[in-house]
Amino acid sequence: MNRFDLLAKTWDEKPRRVENAKKIGEAILKKVAPSGDWRVLDFGAGSGLLTFYLQPHVGWIDAVDNSKGMVEVLKEKVQKTGVKNVNPILGDIENLDLGEEKYDLVVSSMTLHHIRDPKRLFEKLFKSLKRGGYIAIADLQKEDGTFHDTNEGVYHFGFHKEELENFLRGAGFEVLEISVVNLIRKNGREYPVLLATGRKPL
Ligand SMILES: C[S@@+](CC[C@H](N)C(=O)[O-])C[C@H]1O[C@@H](n2cnc3c(N)ncnc32)[C@H](O)[C@@H]1O
Repeated sequence: MNRFDLLAKTWDEKPRRVENAKKIGEAILKKVAPSGDWRVLDFGAGSGLLTFYLQPHVGWIDAVDNSKGMVEVLKEKVQKTGVKNVNPILGDIENLDLGEEKYDLVVSSMTLHHIRDPKRLFEKLFKSLKRGGYIAIADLQKEDGTFHDTNEGVYHFGFHKEELENFLRGAGFEVLEISVVNLIRKNGREYPVLLATGRKPL
């Protein structure tokens, strides 16, 4: 059982998490403007806060998470709401076969800092996108290690804008914009959240 399995059932009870996913979702809709038939991948989807924000605006979302507890919560939400275009998948995004030229958009919220080798993942995500497809990844701006109560499974204390730019360019993406889309207030401090958007050339 990992820490997210334990947190899953009460994940949505923290208003700052719901608010953060909403701010990220709003920014994605504004910057990428998805179309109603798009196939989307959300990795580290968790309980589906971002997935459910984007779901009415796209055709299909594969929502991947490696926490059994989170995927169970997401499956329950899909059942309860009756949405037909969200597909919860239990798996580790770093090892999962994502196929080639399959998605129109890849999104993620607050998960990149849990990824061991982001450079390799960006290359894999690039392959999984159709030509002209978009990527929109949100995560903490570089922090001092105080954001998490425990740093188990935290491989990066956020990212500098330049690092995200290098991951995007290094994998072959055109960089669209990297900007702060939210400030998370926690333990009397403010942690900026960056959204990095890019496009696979046509
Ligand atoms: C901080 S939570 C964010 C959840 C959700 N995106 C949100 O914004 O509320 C990070 C999520 O990433 C998942 N995760 C971490 N490493 C992963 C990996 N290698 N593959 C898939 N999911 C992963 C965790 O299980 C957790 O649900």
